[in-house]
Amino acid sequence: MGKDVILVTGANGQIGGVLTKALREAFGEQRVIATDIRKPEFPNAPFEILDILNKERLIQLIQKYKVTQIYHLAAILSAKGELNPQFAWRVNMEGLFNVLEASRLDQIQKVFFPSSIAVFGAQTPRINTPQDTVLHPSTVYGISKAAGENWSQYYFQKFGVDIRSLRFPGIISHENPPGGGTTDYAVDIYYAAIKGETFTCFLRDDTQLPMMYLPDAVRGTLELMDAPADQIKIRTAYNLGAMSFSPSEIYQSICLHEPDFKINYAPDFRQQIADSWSASVDDSQARADWAWKPKYNLPAMTEDMLYHLRKKQNTPEQNFS
Ligand code: NAD
Ligand code: SER
Repeated sequence: MGKDVILVTGANGQIGGVLTKALREAFGEQRVIATDIRKPEFPNAPFEILDILNKERLIQLIQKYKVTQIYHLAAILSAKGELNPQFAWRVNMEGLFNVLEASRLDQIQKVFFPSSIAVFGAQTPRINTPQDTVLHPSTVYGISKAAGENWSQYYFQKFGVDIRSLRFPGIISHENPPGGGTTDYAVDIYYAAIKGETFTCFLRDDTQLPMMYLPDAVRGTLELMDAPADQIKIRTAYNLGAMSFSPSEIYQSICLHEPDFKINYAPDFRQQIADSWSASVDDSQARADWAWKPKYNLPAMTEDMLYHLRKKQNTPEQNFS
């Protein structure tokens, strides 16, 4: 770990902001180079502007900092991707190719590439979705992640690039806002509850989806990346589970703390996307291979989210919106 230098793409995003902090705690502030297409609000450690479509700049940064590991988070998510499919395909696929090629040419030791429950489709078994299953995704985002999983395995088998991947469920956090996914309602609902607003949910009340609290996702990522290479048996992407709930169930869990909170439902185009995804996933392979175990369930997450959001709301210099 001592000499590793890590480059994070998409470091200003919902996951990237918190994962970069965790990596800096583990590896040292100066050894983690945050990059993104947009500047961070408070740059206080190594940061470089990087459009992941610019392969020359990526290679330049790898050589400048003597990078040994890449966490490739930059992507266009499911709902935003449907608004401009060709652009989403380009960012997600060409971006990944640039990372894979740079990793091969510069002999990067390890790469992390997050996949998603969006790789599943209407023909996939919805309950306890198996690790190996039908992948006919319905969104450009899901198609890019399914292709990305296969390209990751290809680069591992053909060129020995040690690339590791997780199929993240919907991620919930109180820090950086989400960037345009179908599961974003499960973050927005907490903000509405804290502000005393009625929440309008863009999914139907009974739409079950797999979800995860960000601290679990970050810990899972670090544990996967820290595991000995011979324990990583899946070189496409591991199913990763924590909890599953519907809008009505998360609403009820919030009402235990905020009894006057109100919700209504106005499903939009994101309903069709959610209906094509799993309700829950079988992550037994991740549990067996590298001892994955989530810590947060819905009640524990709700308590922690509300605690942190109330604190943020009462801190004048924090941007609470
Ligand atoms: P996000 O949208 O919050 O962040 C993505 C970041 O990428 C943003 O900061 C954005 O500025 C940056 N970016 C966009 N285009 C770029 C480009 N051309 N070059 C460089 N940077 C660019 O996303 P997130 O939720 O933090 O997701 C991170 C990764 O995890 C993504 O690959 C996503 O597919 C995956 N993932 C996320 C979730 C989730 O629920 N958040 C679930 C499954 C998988
Ligand atoms: N949370 C993500 C999305 O909704 C899943 O990858 O796009």
